Amino acid sequence: MNKRTRTHSNPLANLQEIHFEGFGNDNPIFVDVGAFKGEFMEKLAEKFPNHNFICFEIRTPIAEALKEKFKDKPNFRVFEGDAARNFKNILEPCLNEGASIEQIFVNFPDPWFKDRHKKRRFITTKFCNDLAQWFPAKTEIVFQTDQQFLFEETLEYLKETPYKGINQFEGSVHGIPTDWETAKLAKGEKIWRMKFTR
Ligand SMILES: C[S@@+](CC[C@H](N)C(=O)[O-])C[C@H]1O[C@@H](n2cnc3c(N)ncnc32)[C@H](O)[C@@H]1O
Repeated sequence: MNKRTRTHSNPLANLQEIHFEGFGNDNPIFVDVGAFKGEFMEKLAEKFPNHNFICFEIRTPIAEALKEKFKDKPNFRVFEGDAARNFKNILEPCLNEGASIEQIFVNFPDPWFKDRHKKRRFITTKFCNDLAQWFPAKTEIVFQTDQQFLFEETLEYLKETPYKGINQFEGSVHGIPTDWETAKLAKGEKIWRMKFTR
């Protein structure tokens, strides 16, 4: 398509609701929001072969590639669509099966840095307050970004939520850098990282 006529579509306009019955077992679960090429989850699965893995990816071609990549792995599921919109539909059945959700990774979400894009951000006060109504308190949410303002703003958002157990940390989670992290570190850029629970 000609650059001049290219339009930027909003992937969050995809209002599709997706459903999941659960893995059929109660193995602990890792969740990746915006899994991209899935390399972080793939390496995590080498370290934790008995866990289950849920990848959310909003962009169709990336989600299709992820589905192909993990199609022979019974402990992986890839869901195409907005993770925020589908979080409860997908994760509640797993909790009902007795599975623990060990960590949720929000690694380098699209920054949505313009003010008019604020509502597209994944971790917001509203999202966390809604989550606190049904989600286990002990599940850790890991947030990493190369955008300092987004990190600081997220700390502000959390002040208005029950998520008070906030730890800032250094170094790759489980010793595994994500694709985005590798690219940012190669350019010498700084990364801001936090884990939080209720
Ligand atoms: C900057 S990339 C980072 C990819 C990967 N997490 C990493 O650290 O290498 C952000 C990814 O999140 C996806 N994404 C953004 N918002 C999303 C949402 N609400 N639900 C699911 N995926 C989302 C994008 O399509 C993109 O693949």
